[in-house]
Amino acid sequence: MESILKVKDLCVNFATYAGTVNAIRDVSFELHKGETLAIVGESGSGKSVTVRSIMQLLDRNADIASGEIIYNGQDLLKYSEKKMNDVRGHDISMIFQDPMTSLDPTMSIGKQVAEPLLIHTKISKKEAIEKAIETLQLVGIDNARERINDYPHQFSGGQRQRIVIAIAIIGSPDILIADEPTTALDVTVQSQIIDLLKDIQKKLKMSIIFITHDLGVVAGIADRVEVMYAGKIIEYGEVNEIFFNPKHPYTWGLLDSMPTLNVKERLNYIPGTPPDLIDPAPGDAFAPRNEFALDIDFEQMPPFFEVSKTHFAATWLLDPNAPKVTPPASIVARQKEFKKLTKAGE
Ligand SMILES: Nc1ncnc2c1ncn2[C@@H]1O[C@H](COP(=O)(O)OP(=O)(O)OP(=O)(O)O)[C@@H](O)[C@H]1O
Ligand SMILES: [Mg+2]
Repeated sequence: MESILKVKDLCVNFATYAGTVNAIRDVSFELHKGETLAIVGESGSGKSVTVRSIMQLLDRNADIASGEIIYNGQDLLKYSEKKMNDVRGHDISMIFQDPMTSLDPTMSIGKQVAEPLLIHTKISKKEAIEKAIETLQLVGIDNARERINDYPHQFSGGQRQRIVIAIAIIGSPDILIADEPTTALDVTVQSQIIDLLKDIQKKLKMSIIFITHDLGVVAGIADRVEVMYAGKIIEYGEVNEIFFNPKHPYTWGLLDSMPTLNVKERLNYIPGTPPDLIDPAPGDAFAPRNEFALDIDFEQMPPFFEVSKTHFAATWLLDPNAPKVTPPASIVARQKEFKKLTKAGE
């Protein structure tokens, strides 16, 4: 698989009054060309900080302590702000969680959608507006031509998110990063936006990093999945491997707490809370919440064990000397339901 982006040994800290927060701890992964890679994990696990590091849009108290982000053979972390500005919106675009705050209420949508083209290319204003209309049509805004001078407040929440997507894709980026793009929307609109992203990806052949809490969404859109906990990736693999052969007890917990098809509420939460990332304890950060934890989990960070050529998990349970443990029956019982959701079930 050809990769388009490589994140290597990324460590990100935040300076706070309470101490240094080790938010991202040695994260490495690759984004393959044309794939949708989902990053999942509980709140605070480091999903947003990971992708904001790629875009270099971190808060001011952030420090990228180490790592490389390789795109087109070059390390983005070594780029000047000016060069990075060229990358953003042109090579790599990002859609944020809240469509309200990512649109300018005082600017017509035509201007906002055309803006990336005017910044990054030598296209004329008239051509840029034509392209904006085309892109708005592509994302499903009806009567785009007539509505080009309207303002954000004249559109519904779902339409606004479509406009945000139009801004992100108008420059035909290689990579689209979507950080919880549907959380602020109601369920029906959510699935429309997901379908739209799938459709656009097919048409524009982009690679997508998709962040979400919702494993149900992941099943429908992702080719591969990365599971994050306490600033680390703890398991990654193809979507079917994560749903049907998960190995890390934290992944089991996430799958177990997935809302069901009919009841869109969480049934089982993972007991306990994530660790404090100021001076994190040694070992597997999940150990205190892990009913299957071994003594070594509290002492030593588990390495990645290979489950298959595409599937790896960092848990001592995969050590050849570990006792045999199987996933909770509740997850196994839900695999039929997962089948309906995943691409494999199609
Ligand atoms: N500016 C900051 N100062 C201090 N700590 C921060 C800052 N920004 C993020 N963090 C910490 O970094 C960790 C990772 O945060 P991040 O926003 O990446 O989580 P997330 O996985 O995106 O969560 P969510 O699902 O809630 O969006 C958290 O512990 C968070 O408190
Ligand atoms: Mg986030």
